[in-house]
Amino acid sequence: MLRFAAVVTAFAVGATAVYAQSTAIDQRQKLMKSIGGAMKETGGMMKGAIPFDLPKVQAALKVLAESAPKAKDLFPDDSKEGGDTKALPIIWEQKVDFNGRFDKLAADATAAMGSVTDEASFKIAWPKIGGNCGGCHKVYQKPDK
Ligand code: HEC
Repeated sequence: MLRFAAVVTAFAVGATAVYAQSTAIDQRQKLMKSIGGAMKETGGMMKGAIPFDLPKVQAALKVLAESAPKAKDLFPDDSKEGGDTKALPIIWEQKVDFNGRFDKLAADATAAMGSVTDEASFKIAWPKIGGNCGGCHKVYQKPDK
């Protein structure tokens, strides 16, 4: 009986750890998707495929400024592996640089909320914002197969 209880407890603890891990991975992938969604229309505006729309640009910047700091909490030590994560292990070896990139994205987005007032200023600010995405993915995300 005692033995059975120990097995049940071990199982419960194991299941909780797996759950916590997959939620962090889930949450960060969802957060990244919402960031990606916010960038989609603005990408079209950059290319001239969609008309420039200042309120939409400002809304996208707000999503970036608010999401980037939250992302820092979604890479706990127990979430290195699992699910279909594309996060590379080097993240946890270079946490200071990694988190610093989220801080920079948030800072650039916040600055752009002030500097983007029309299409011309949008076109100057946007590549800088987007550079944060690609710059981090190149180092810390597994490339698509
Ligand atoms: C500091 C690093 C960093 C920055 C900055 C960053 N990302 Fe990511 N992103 C990641 C990592 C790591 C993953 C992989 C997460 C995983 O699979 O666990 C990812 C995944 C993604 C995904 C795929 C989500 C999925 O699983 O479907 C999208 C889309 C994405 N990022 C968009 C963006 C956009 C757009 C920006 C810029 C506005 C951005 N990211 C900025 C690190 C970053």
